[in-house]
Amino acid sequence: MIREIVQVGDPVLRKKCEPVKRFDGELCSLLDDMKETVRAAEGAGLAAPQVGVPVRAVVVDVEEGFFEFVNPVFVWQKGEQTGAEGCLSVKGKAGTVLRPNKVKIVFQDRNGDKYSLVARDFFARAVCHELDHLDGILYTDKATDVRDSED
Ligand code: CO
Repeated sequence: MIREIVQVGDPVLRKKCEPVKRFDGELCSLLDDMKETVRAAEGAGLAAPQVGVPVRAVVVDVEEGFFEFVNPVFVWQKGEQTGAEGCLSVKGKAGTVLRPNKVKIVFQDRNGDKYSLVARDFFARAVCHELDHLDGILYTDKATDVRDSED
């Protein structure tokens, strides 16, 4: 089911999200809906607070594949990259953001099993952007410029 994407100004986007504790049907529905929602919106990622649920779960949809990260935590961040970002919760805008070029995270899947993953380049950027959402941070807080975009 496609869920409504919350827009900037809604306090749920500024919450420090709670860890996921129950790996149940509700989590599966949330992740399934987030996949459908991000694909319909043609985004590179979506965090649970963006559909109004302040828990630590994100999806990332990039060249490398489609990923679900539950309770993700950075292990390390390396290097730098500067590039353009937008956000499905900040419609019609784009900005330039400095991010690490390579990151390692640990996370759980929808069953609660633990994994680690290294992401680089745009994938790393998407991971950083989505993980920021879990701490109430928007890319516009970090961007050196925010401009109107056609998207
Ligand atoms: Co975003």
